Amino acid sequence: MFINFRRIHKCQCVQLLTAILVLGMVVVCWEDLDHHVVSHMRSYTYRYLINSYDFLNSSFTLTSNRGLRKDSSNSGIWEYSYLINHPDKCQEGGADEKTGEDVLLLLFVKSSPENFEQRQAIRDTWGNESFVWSELRENVKVVFALGMHPDVRQQSRVQAALLQEDQAYRDLIQQDFVDTFHNLTAKLIMQFHWGHKYCPNAHFLMSADDDIFVHVPNLMKYLRQLMSTQSGSKDLWVGHVHRGSPPNRRKYSKYHVPYELYPWPSYPDYTAGAGYVVSGDVADKIYRATLVLNSSIYIDDVFMGICAKAMGVSPQEHVYFSGEGKAPYHPCIYDRMITSHGHAIDMRPLWQAATDPTVYSSRGSIGDLYCTAVRVLQLCLPYFQQTYSCKAAFA
Ligand SMILES: *[C@@H]1O[C@H](CO)[C@@H](O)[C@H](O)[C@H]1NC(C)=O
Ligand SMILES: *[C@@H]1O[C@H](CO)[C@@H](O)[C@H](O)[C@H]1NC(C)=O
Ligand SMILES: *[C@@H]1O[C@H](CO)[C@@H](O)[C@H](O)[C@H]1NC(C)=O
Ligand SMILES: *[C@@H]1O[C@H](CO)[C@@H](O)[C@H](O)[C@H]1NC(C)=O
Repeated sequence: MFINFRRIHKCQCVQLLTAILVLGMVVVCWEDLDHHVVSHMRSYTYRYLINSYDFLNSSFTLTSNRGLRKDSSNSGIWEYSYLINHPDKCQEGGADEKTGEDVLLLLFVKSSPENFEQRQAIRDTWGNESFVWSELRENVKVVFALGMHPDVRQQSRVQAALLQEDQAYRDLIQQDFVDTFHNLTAKLIMQFHWGHKYCPNAHFLMSADDDIFVHVPNLMKYLRQLMSTQSGSKDLWVGHVHRGSPPNRRKYSKYHVPYELYPWPSYPDYTAGAGYVVSGDVADKIYRATLVLNSSIYIDDVFMGICAKAMGVSPQEHVYFSGEGKAPYHPCIYDRMITSHGHAIDMRPLWQAATDPTVYSSRGSIGDLYCTAVRVLQLCLPYFQQTYSCKAAFA
């Protein structure tokens, strides 16, 4: 009898616990969903009905001289010092050795000290400057942007490895901030300051994550097209555009931004930080904005959006720049894609496949029709993982 009673008791206990757990999960998810939906609704309403971000100017402009970043000296409180640098990078090679006038694209890869493998894969594939010069006749400079390893105990070992790596490849740019997610804005500022100081004549500047794939031949073709038009290579900020994104208010999210930092319901438009391109004049404007704006907002793409807004620059969408997703593996995608996100061990085979000359041989009208059909299947049906929007199938 006693044992029996205990058994029932135990069973009820388990039931009760399960019920509480399920209820708890429902409440948590519901609140999450609710929060998510509501914040997006507010944000879109703000973006599309009011669409005035004038508050950014006054709220983010540094007023005291103390806050102003000093450009020329390292003593300014906001300016970090270079640990590894290559001031002459843009003057080397190419047709015009002295001035770096002919650099078409300065490409920053945002990397972290320990990501040696990723950097190596990029050097062997789309980051190969000699390939771009010998095959495409364009002068592109690729550098990796880094901070310091966050773990103090490993710092000296990793730093020694970085110095050795840099001796071999001479393509690292490193400042003495700790390389963490919350210091990405420092990395963004470093890129625009470096470009301003050491490569001011580059026609375009690109910023890319070290886990993206850049189809450099397609990118070169696109940039050349822009250069051939009068206005195309001016006032340009292109990528995968986020419009009317709300700040993330969930406490434990990586992207959490507290009200004190950004009290408004909606961010200005910005491109995904995974990979975007700006023209030289825009790079200069962003540089100037970083000198006068408060950079405490640590989501680097959002900070870029704030800088651009303050300078009157708007991002434009290119359907073949990816945000989060990985491009489908298919020749009908390869001949259009610019960037694709989430690559590591597949970087080399993808580079081989995507730059294979047969991808670019003319297909004829039947072939074109076939490719459109393939793209519709890959990009427009809901059950495939999507990188590019359905629009891209017809672009
Ligand atoms: C930048 O903004 C943050 C948060 O709003 C504030 O705490 C900080 O004092 C500001 N920095 C400067 C230099 O104005
Ligand atoms: C880079 O490209 C050049 C020219 O195509 C080639 O000779 C070289 O082997 C490539 N380097 C790497 C590391 O793949
Ligand atoms: C950013 O880097 C600076 C300089 O190393 C460091 O003091 C600061 O704690 C870092 N911030 C974050 C959020 O990691
Ligand atoms: C303020 O913002 C607008 C765009 O919203 C921009 O055109 C203008 O130049 C900015 N003014 C200053 C002083 O930064």
